[in-house]
Order: sequence, then C-alpha cells, then structure tokens
Amino acid sequence: MRRLAVSFLFASALLGAADLAGTWQREEAGDNGRKLVTTYVFKTDGNRFTGVIATETERRQILNGVIDGNKITFDNWFEFYERSTAAPYTGEISGEELTIVSARPAQGNRPPPPPVVLQRVSGATVYTPPPEWAVTHKPFRGFRPIPPNGLALTPPMGWNSWNKFAERIDDKAVREIADAMVASGMRDAGYVYVNIDDTWEAGRDKNGNIQSNEKFPDMRALADYVHAQGLKLGIYSGPGRLTCANFTASYGHEEQDAKTWAAWGIDYLKYDWCSASAVYRPDEMASAYQKMALALRSTGRPMVYSLCQYGWLKVGEWGAAAGGNLWRTTGDISDNWRSMSTIGFNQNGREKFAGPGYWNDPDMLEIGNGGMTDTEYRTHMSLWSMLAAPLLAGHDVRTMTPATREILTNKEVIAIDQDKFGRQGVRVRQQGDLEVWKKPLAQGVAVALFNRGGATAKIAVKWAEVGIASTNPKVRDLWAHKDVAAPDGFSAEVPSHGVVMLRVE
Ligand code: GLA
Repeated sequence: MRRLAVSFLFASALLGAADLAGTWQREEAGDNGRKLVTTYVFKTDGNRFTGVIATETERRQILNGVIDGNKITFDNWFEFYERSTAAPYTGEISGEELTIVSARPAQGNRPPPPPVVLQRVSGATVYTPPPEWAVTHKPFRGFRPIPPNGLALTPPMGWNSWNKFAERIDDKAVREIADAMVASGMRDAGYVYVNIDDTWEAGRDKNGNIQSNEKFPDMRALADYVHAQGLKLGIYSGPGRLTCANFTASYGHEEQDAKTWAAWGIDYLKYDWCSASAVYRPDEMASAYQKMALALRSTGRPMVYSLCQYGWLKVGEWGAAAGGNLWRTTGDISDNWRSMSTIGFNQNGREKFAGPGYWNDPDMLEIGNGGMTDTEYRTHMSLWSMLAAPLLAGHDVRTMTPATREILTNKEVIAIDQDKFGRQGVRVRQQGDLEVWKKPLAQGVAVALFNRGGATAKIAVKWAEVGIASTNPKVRDLWAHKDVAAPDGFSAEVPSHGVVMLRVE
C-alpha cells in the first residue's frame, strides 16, 4: 500500500513536469478592438520550473516555480518593479488547459482577479514581438537634468475625465463639464484644468500627424470653448506605441505631437507609460519622459507636464529633473475607502521630493463618484490637501450633490493644498487607527486628526508636537468654518473614517 502511494506521487510529479513544459496562450478582447495575446513559456527541471510571461507590451520572468502533481505555484518578476509580486500564483493543469489563479485577495470593492485559462499551443515556443513593435529610437546620450518650466508653482487643480467616464467621454460632455465647473463655483475655487484622459485618439494621417477620433471632431474649437470659460484644456498620451486603453500614443512622434497639441491650444499633458515597457528599458525611462518635456518646451506654449508611470523606479528622485511638474506615485485609485485610504496614508516619506513646480501625485480624486460616504470624501479631500497633492476632480460635475460641491469647494481646505510654501505634509503620530498629520504653511501649520477605525474615537494633539512654539495660537476648524479656543492643544471626537482639520497660526 505504502509503496503504491509513493510510486503514484513520483509518477504524478513526472507527469506534471512533462505536461507543463512548452508554450501556453490565451487570447482576449482588449480595449479599442485590439486582440490581446498572453503567452506563457515554461521550462521545467524535475518538479521545478522557470519561464516567461509575455504580451506585446511587457515580459515578466517566472520565478520559484514548483510542480506538485497537476498543480503549480510560482511568482513573477517585472524589471520595471523593484520587487517581485507579493502574491504568488497557483495553477492547475487539466489536459490541454492550464488555469492560473492569483493569490491577491479582494481589495475593497475590487474583486480578486478572475482565473486565467490558457490553452497549450504547439510550435511557437519562443515569444517574438510583432514587427510593428520594433524599437526605432536612437540610444539616449546619458541623462542630464533640465531646469523647471516655471509652471505649477502650487499643485495643479482641475478635473479629469477618467475616473467617472473612462472611454465614454466626448466633446459634448467636456463642454458641459466646463460649463458646470463655472456654474458650480469650481472654477472660482481654483479648478482650472479640464483634462481629457485616454480614448480621444484616432490614428495618424499620412504625414504622421495625430488625429482625434469621432468623439472629438475639432480639438481646436473645443480648446477655444474651454478657454473662453476661463478654463484650460489638458490632454493625454504616452511614450509607448499605445496608451493604456490601446489607442495611439506618441512613440517616434514626440515633437510632432507636442506641436499638434500646442496648435490646438492644449495647456496640460498627462503622459502615461503603459505599453512603453515594450520599447524602452528601465534605465531609459527618465530620458523617455524628458524627451517629451523638451518637445513640449520647444513649442513655446506653456504646458503642465504630468508623468504617469505608477511610481515605478523611484520617480521622485528624477521626475523633476526629467521636466515633470507632477508624477504619479501609485497604481490607479478606485472609488472605495480601502483604495483611497491605503494610497493616501502611504504617501508619508515622499515629502522630500515635492515643492513648488514639482509634486507627488497620489492619483485623481474620487469625490462625488458614489463609492464612499461624504465623511470619507471629506477625509479624501483633507488628506490630499495635507499632501499638497494635485486636486483633479473625477466626477460628473453636471449632476453633483450639494455635499460633493461643498467638499470640493471648501476654500479653507483648498488653501492648505495651495499654500505657497509648497510643503507636503507628514505623519506626526500614529496610534493604531488614529493618525495626526501636519503640513508646514507659509504662515502657521495645518494639522489633521484622522480616524481610520470603525468607531468614533477621541484624538488629542499638543501644539508643541506639531512645532508650534507659541501658546494661545489662532486655531481655525476648516470643516466647521469656526475659530476655536485651544491654548496649548486640541482634542476632538472624530467619527469613523472621518477627520478634523485645523489651521494653527
Ligand atoms: C492608466 C492610468 C489611468 C488612466 C488610464 C487610461 O491606467 O493610470 O489614470 O489614465 O490608464 O487608459
């Protein structure tokens, strides 16, 4: 009996190893009508394996692969990250099918990733990118910092289409949003950039000029309309061949695209990495971003330059030198407490990279999109302001509730974000779910008491702790819009997921 069990195990291990080696693929429908093919190539050695996961736009190494019968486990490593995936993968072979499941758990409203079902393919054992993905740029000649462009001396404020509309954005909606920004008082509160995100792009004409698609029949006219409202217009592209939603991006056409945008009257560019991993190595990323910075500058039109590469490769250390006015520090935010609070409270420590003209960008606001309570949205607004983060609203401005409008247009909170001193706030103290943050201002200090826990809790702070030497300072509660008497410190009952924000001078 025992011998039988041992030989069964041995046979299944061998069978598994033999079954896994080779190439597996899956095809799925991507955005913008593109077919996405993912290829897994496995090399086995007994019941260990290595390999590669390749798409058109990226290659990941498979590490620590172990076969156990018809089950496998592995990690993967992507050279643009500083670390391998935290969550391992498991898989199960069933004849000609291999099902792979990521161990990443559900995060807030974001379900765990669905299983990936691959089919065994014969023949093609090595992945080769299609010819149109060939690298055509000249090697960069070292990286030399460029001086600031003089824009965004306070964090950019405005609106962006992605969080609410994704691909369902068009000329008509942008005009209506611009109207609503004026009518609602958002413009007058400082939100001036109206930024079109991904999905505006068509292909290129015979001279290589980028075209807008049928959703945006006349970008110049749209820019004129937006400008006439006292607002500015932003646009989106990337250093690769395709944007994240598979639309045409700027690879090989950087100067030409910058000229086109300048001629349209564009005032802001978000430049999103995405497929650029297929054409640039990690050590070329800063130069690839700088290439567009230089192209924008050579047009003579002031355009705020926003780097979007999810915080990879320590961007804070080179984003400003590459010509950026802001750079994303994280993956995409989503409209739930867990995503927003994890991103926001994780920004502590990046303050040394931010200052007038160059800002950390923990992603756009979700305020008013419905996935959080107004208390949570107040925390979102307060935290982003303490961080001197760009304030780019991402909701439907046309239909917002009075509460959303009040949160976004709280001038006393906006003044903290926009303070001329340009310092990003820091965590002073953390006790479990309770956090005290401070942000030095041109005059005084902003102090925020955050309760990340599930029940109301008391939070107290002494002024000495946040660097206020004087006793009896002037203290203002920025959400209650009231002066408060607090001679040597302040304490408050802070609701679950809520905040009390003060200006102390
Ligand atoms: C990436 C960016 C988002 C958005 C989309 C558009 O995911 O991080 O902010 O621009 O691409 O495709």
